[in-house]
Amino acid sequence: MRRTVLVLGLLALVTGAGWGLSAPAFAAYDPDDEWQGLPEGEGREELYYNCIACHSTAIIQQQRLNRRVWNDILVWMKDDMGWPEPPEEEYDLILDYLVEHFGQDVPR
Ligand code: HEC
Repeated sequence: MRRTVLVLGLLALVTGAGWGLSAPAFAAYDPDDEWQGLPEGEGREELYYNCIACHSTAIIQQQRLNRRVWNDILVWMKDDMGWPEPPEEEYDLILDYLVEHFGQDVPR
């Protein structure tokens, strides 16, 4: 499990760099933290495995957005970036997790 996560993390690092995302996005990357600093909570696992394929979670964690804008981001990932949308239940878990932990009122 740890190994898989590490490999996925490295993959994300490599593909993330390939996408031309800026280096500071990875500054917080800690190889000892298998969740890359994502706070614990329902939906964390779903978010991690859905979003890590293309970029680090740092570009997610640096945002503070309301539910509408988070939803817009998910739609953008799905329609334009090629994110294969998960079943509705999983989508909702991810959206709830984003709003709870990276909502506009959450301190940085
Ligand atoms: C198939 C690849 C792919 C997947 C999977 C993916 N993304 Fe992205 N994401 C991208 C790319 C490419 C960019 C950079 C887009 C740009 O800045 O033009 C990006 C950028 C972002 C940004 C930064 C937006 C900004 O304002 O700069 C956020 C936030 C984000 N993604 C969230 C997510 C979340 C949450 C998930 C999981 C539900 C996810 N992404 C899954 C490809 C993906």
